[in-house]
Amino acid sequence: MDKIRSLTGMADYSEKSEKDNVAAKLFHVENSLKEIFKTFNINEIRTPALERTSLFQRSVGDFSDIVNKELYSFNDKNDRSITLRPEGTAGVIRHIVENNLESYSNKFWYMGPMWRYERPQKGRYRQFNQAGIEYLGYEEGLAELELISIVCLIIEKLNIKNSVIKINHLGNESTKAEFAEAIKNYFEPYKSSLDEIDIDRLESNPLRLLDTKNKDLQKVLRNAPLLTDFLPKSSIDLLNHIKASFQNVEIEIDPTLVRGLDYYNGFVFEAISNDLGAQSSFLGGGRYDNLSSQLGGKIMNSIGMAIGLERISEISNIETDEKNRASFIILAGVDHTKAYKMAHELRSLNENVILETHLHCSSLKAELRRANKCKSQMAFIIGEEELKNNKILIKDLKNESNEQKNVSYDELIKIYKNL
Ligand code: HAM
Repeated sequence: MDKIRSLTGMADYSEKSEKDNVAAKLFHVENSLKEIFKTFNINEIRTPALERTSLFQRSVGDFSDIVNKELYSFNDKNDRSITLRPEGTAGVIRHIVENNLESYSNKFWYMGPMWRYERPQKGRYRQFNQAGIEYLGYEEGLAELELISIVCLIIEKLNIKNSVIKINHLGNESTKAEFAEAIKNYFEPYKSSLDEIDIDRLESNPLRLLDTKNKDLQKVLRNAPLLTDFLPKSSIDLLNHIKASFQNVEIEIDPTLVRGLDYYNGFVFEAISNDLGAQSSFLGGGRYDNLSSQLGGKIMNSIGMAIGLERISEISNIETDEKNRASFIILAGVDHTKAYKMAHELRSLNENVILETHLHCSSLKAELRRANKCKSQMAFIIGEEELKNNKILIKDLKNESNEQKNVSYDELIKIYKNL
């Protein structure tokens, strides 16, 4: 029969089979991020992976690439259009609005898979993992500083080299309107050379044109009006203040940074690393004060960000303190239940040991080969003889000499506790 294969570009990792061990790296990165979130007293939120399609059309934006081309949408058995979430922010705000929580301040984090029907390539998948933070009910100012403080801490704790945090400000509503007008006027003579999507963008959200991948358009943009020229002084002051507040990580003000989702207003940022190749952004976010009202709720000042877990895992250089490893070997013919009871008791004595129980119960030679393969430093062996005399054979696997000794169960307990 044919093997059933996974869909292209889906996050599909195991600690054993993947050559660069993505699953193991994700495990350590996710734990480190959770520790960091805890130190800022951020609470976890879990929202569904499936939402109504209209949620993303109204939040991420009808003209964004994500909604335009990349949604995983289906009709369910009730003929409702549903979508696998492409990002986490919309679901969090839907939760708040649905439960009438807009007037409370909340700091949330989440972690989980997201889906975007992109053209898969290195660092860009159709199912990938994100960790996100949303600060809800916080005005512009300190919340911006705290988000960048978290980014700096992540970069330091995960020991990420060659990274830069790019920051920008999209101004207020009147900045956006004035800039949009100026860009529209500037592009009028070039309109015939724009494709359909860019013409739509010019009408609906001209800011998104600045983010274009079209090389010809990039050339035209070189002489286009700059958003910075329309920004109020308070926005420029905020950018300068943030840049001056953090010393150990490079922060650059980038007037062309606009981000790919429509819900942003105010401060926006992205962290990029030269070690990642074409998909260089490993986290991004910004302020989105209008999203709750766009979803039918009350206005709620909000700012947040999301981290691409596959991308950040690739560039993180964290030392993981490897625990002691040992093998518990029950040989063929031994009373399993009596022997396994010992393994069960040992585990509760010392959490710093990885104790692999060998479940095949084959010959000593085969089991020692397995113990070496799983890098055990020590083997605890129980054969018929040992069980009868209430003893255990301990074999040292780290030294060439492979010393071994027979000890009583009480002695084993002492040794195990001190491993
Ligand atoms: P985003 O910039 O679309 O923002 O995604 C955040 C991060 O997710 C990116 O910087 C990247 O590392 C990772 N990412 C995005 N698409 C892919 C993909 N196809 N494959 C692998 N990694 C990917 C958001 O999602 C916003 N919700 C962030 C936010 C939260 N803004 C405010 N609050």
